[in-house]
Amino acid sequence: MPDYQFWSERWLNNQIGFHMNGPHKSLIEFIDLFKVHKKIFVPLCGKSPDMIFLRQYGLEVIGVEFSEIAILDFIKENNLKMIKHEVRDLIFYEGDGFKIYQGNLFKLFEIDLAGVTCCYDRASMVAFNQQERVNYSQFLKDIVKDLTLILAPLLDYGEVLDAGPPFSVTARELNLLYGKNFELEVLRSDETPLRDNLKSKGAIYEKEVTWLFKKKING
Ligand SMILES: C[S@@+](CC[C@H](N)C(=O)[O-])C[C@H]1O[C@@H](n2cnc3c(N)ncnc32)[C@H](O)[C@@H]1O
Repeated sequence: MPDYQFWSERWLNNQIGFHMNGPHKSLIEFIDLFKVHKKIFVPLCGKSPDMIFLRQYGLEVIGVEFSEIAILDFIKENNLKMIKHEVRDLIFYEGDGFKIYQGNLFKLFEIDLAGVTCCYDRASMVAFNQQERVNYSQFLKDIVKDLTLILAPLLDYGEVLDAGPPFSVTARELNLLYGKNFELEVLRSDETPLRDNLKSKGAIYEKEVTWLFKKKING
């Protein structure tokens, strides 16, 4: 079960250290990877300015986020005109080239993500624990049927358990979960200062690794 209460309290108490004020450096650097795409999925989107950057680049942006606070802030802070709708047991906000589902990612169906061919994952895979990451990889493969490309700046501090979120995602795990269906490539890797809480759990390095996943022809 995704930890709704944990994230809900984060947003209620404004403990959103993960939120950035501008687009991520890897998104800026590698945005042209999305040149031939029209519709992008931004899972666990928060109120990320990356969505604005992707929209300005010309993509239709489909997000999903538990927190209503995050979505309403996103709309207000960016002066967007988005209207609230309800389908099945899902609420979504739509307008100005954005569609944001409010709810649990794992409740989305194939139809909700129809036409999506690419995905930008910043701080979503690392927000999931190990079992959820397995479910998430299955979700991307089964539900996002036309997905051919994923850009994902991830955190890697080795195979250290119980230290997240943010959780560590290693090359070994990615190969296990995605290697059969996607070609995996490291686009950049930046060492970051090892945080004390990770060191005390046994981590000996910390780095941000930006991955590109490209669908294999028969993947
Ligand atoms: C670490 S934050 C990242 C937000 C955003 N990607 C960013 O870069 O700022 C993870 C977000 O995912 C949301 N979340 C966590 N689990 C979720 C789930 N299963 N379905 C939808 N949203 C979820 C949380 O409320 C939180 O806003």
